[in-house]
Amino acid sequence: MTRKTVRIAMNGVTGRMGHRQHLVRSILALREQGGLELADGTRLWPEPVLVGRREPALRELAGRYGLERWSTDLDAVLADPATDIYFDAQVTSAREEALRKAVAAGKHVYAEKPSATSFEAALGLARLARDAGVKHGVVQDKLFLPGLRKLSRLIDSGFFGQILSVRGEFGYWVFEGDWQEAQRPSWNYRTADGGGIVVDMFPHWEYVLHELFGRVRSVQALAVTHIPQRWDERGKPYDATADDAAYGIFELDGGAVAQINSSWTVRVHRDELVEFQVDGTHGSAVAGLRTCRLQHRSGTPKPVWNPDLPVTHSFRDQWQEVPDNEEFDNGFKTQWELFLRHVYEDGPYRWDLLAGARGVQLAELGLRSSAEGRRVDVPEIAL
Ligand SMILES: NC(=O)c1ccc[n+]([C@@H]2O[C@H](COP(=O)([O-])OP(=O)(O)OC[C@H]3O[C@@H](n4cnc5c(N)ncnc54)[C@H](O)[C@@H]3O)[C@@H](O)[C@H]2O)c1
Repeated sequence: MTRKTVRIAMNGVTGRMGHRQHLVRSILALREQGGLELADGTRLWPEPVLVGRREPALRELAGRYGLERWSTDLDAVLADPATDIYFDAQVTSAREEALRKAVAAGKHVYAEKPSATSFEAALGLARLARDAGVKHGVVQDKLFLPGLRKLSRLIDSGFFGQILSVRGEFGYWVFEGDWQEAQRPSWNYRTADGGGIVVDMFPHWEYVLHELFGRVRSVQALAVTHIPQRWDERGKPYDATADDAAYGIFELDGGAVAQINSSWTVRVHRDELVEFQVDGTHGSAVAGLRTCRLQHRSGTPKPVWNPDLPVTHSFRDQWQEVPDNEEFDNGFKTQWELFLRHVYEDGPYRWDLLAGARGVQLAELGLRSSAEGRRVDVPEIAL
C-alpha cells in the first residue's frame, strides 16, 4: 500500500467552522481513520498547515492536535511547492483575495460558502480557476445531512408524485450580546463586514433547492433588520446594519414553489433548527438536519375546519419516520472526501466555484428583490 501525503493549507481554522467542522470533524477525522483510500489502493494522508493572522492562536491549536505546521504568512505557504490544496474558512470578506492568490499559485482550492461577497467576484473566481486548470470546490454541506439525504431518497423513489411546494423554516434566537453573550460572531450583523442572513443562508437554499427540486427561476424576498443594535465580542454596542431575517419565495424549474423563512430572531418551536416540508400529489415529508417523516396520500387524514371543537388527536402522530438504513458520516467530512477524490482520482464533483457563484447570485438577487420590492428573475449562468 502506498501512502501519499496531501498538504492542505487551512486558512481560518481558529474560527467556528474552520476549527470544528473542517479541521477536527473532517481532516483530523480522516487521519484518525488512517487516511482516505483511493480506488488504486493508495492512501491519501492529509497534512494540514494551519494558516491565520494570530501566531499564538495557531501555535496553541497545532499543539492541541499534535500538528507540526502553522504559519501567519499565506504568501509563503502558497509559494511552497509542497502545498497541494488551499482551503479557506476565513470571514467571507477575506476570501476572494486569498482564493485568487491560491489559484495564481497553481493550487487546487476548496472554500466555505459564500465563495465571494458579490456575484461578479464569485463568477470571476470560477473563471479564474477554470482557466488555471486547478480543481475547485465550495462547501455545500446541507446536501450531505442525514435528513436531506433521506428526503433525496424519497424524491428518487417517486414517493411525492408531482412536487407542489417546499416550505423551509430556518432559524433560532441569536442573543443580542448585552445580557447574554451572542452565540455567533458579530461580523455577521454588519453589512460592511460581509454579514447578513441573506448572504449567509441564500447560498445554502440555492443548492438545496436546485439539487433536490429544480433550479431557482425567480426570487421574491423581504430582508429586514429586526434588531438594530447588538453587542460585540468585547461587550461594546454596535449598529447591526445587516439583515437578520429574510422571508423568501422561490419559483423553481418544474413548477414547484418554495417558501423559506430564515431568521436569527425567532424562537424555536420545531424539532430541528431547519426543517423543510415538501408537499406532493402522492405524499408529503418533513425533513430536518437528521430526521425525515412522511405521510403518504393513502394515510392522509381528512381534517375538517371547525374552530368550535377542540382537536382530539395529534397531527404529528400521523407521520411515519423514514429509517436511517445506512450510516451517515459528518456531512462536511463526506464532502471533503469527495473533493479529495475529485483532485486525486478525477472523481465527479459538481459543487465547484460555478455552483458557489449560483449561491452568491441568488443572495444578490434576493437582496435586490427586497430593496426594489419586486420579484426578480434568476438567469441561468455559465462559465
Ligand atoms: N457551511 C456552513 O454551514 C457555514 C456555517 C457558518 C459559517 N460559514 C461560513 O464560514 C466562514 C467563517 O464563518 P465562522 O462562523 O467560522 O466565522 P468566525 O468569525 O468564527 O471565523 C472567522 C475566521 O476568519 C479569520 N479572519 C480572517 N480575516 C479576518 C478578519 N478581517 N476579521 C475577522 N476574522 C478574520 C478569523 O481569524 C477566523 O479564523 C464564513 O464565510 C461563513 O459564511 C459556513
